[in-house]
Amino acid sequence: MNKVLRKPVIAGNWKMNKNQAETIAFINELLPEISDLQDVKIVLCVPFTDLSAAVSAVLGTCVSIGAQNVHYSQKGAFTGEISVSMLAEIGVEYVIIGHSERRQYFGETDRTVKLRTSAALEAGLKVILCIGETLDERNGNLTDNVVNTQLAAALDGISAEAMDSVIIAYEPVWAIGTGLNATDEQAEQVCGYIRDQLALKYGSEVSDKTVIQYGGSMKSSNAAGLLAMPDIDGGLIGTASLEAKEFLAIIKSAK
Ligand code: PGA
Repeated sequence: MNKVLRKPVIAGNWKMNKNQAETIAFINELLPEISDLQDVKIVLCVPFTDLSAAVSAVLGTCVSIGAQNVHYSQKGAFTGEISVSMLAEIGVEYVIIGHSERRQYFGETDRTVKLRTSAALEAGLKVILCIGETLDERNGNLTDNVVNTQLAAALDGISAEAMDSVIIAYEPVWAIGTGLNATDEQAEQVCGYIRDQLALKYGSEVSDKTVIQYGGSMKSSNAAGLLAMPDIDGGLIGTASLEAKEFLAIIKSAK
């Protein structure tokens, strides 16, 4: 399948930003500008406390709502956690899993990424699976190795059919929140490598249709170049997704 046939997915990762009122204000600013948008999928991954309000605000539009993490158990004594069925019940469609900030600050491991991925897919959620290397790993020529290890661990036991609900987000840790994005060529090289690994595991039909995003300081000034690369089908955007006009400019570069 040609890149043209993969619908780009532009996802905002708001992290711990915006309360409900700010969420509604953002969505109200965004929606009129994208009412005729057909060739780009938009996802807003908002804090847990904003999810219900966001789901109601985007009802019947081309925008979907995602969470930024989820627990892998169905229920039980896990103080502070949220289950997949809790997200599904309120109309959340996507969940980010394995973000480097969760790996770095909250003890996320390849094992827990795998457990979360399986649980989310079983509950009918779509997964934005984050993988990526640190600067030390890149400098040590370990990028392919790290990315492949993270990918293989997360997708262990995931069927080809379930891959319809998986987006891979390649997010080099050194590019996240630093203002220093990977170059078009650096990002393409790893996204192409990820697609090759998917082909080895699942065959070319699956690898050709899987959406692979780039994330890490993507903004309106660099989005067009990154999104034009053959294996980059969208973006996972942090800082630049917090302001509607800036986010809209990125969406327009994906068209
Ligand atoms: P950034 O964050 O766009 O601010 O670099 C991206 C992310 O963490 O997903």
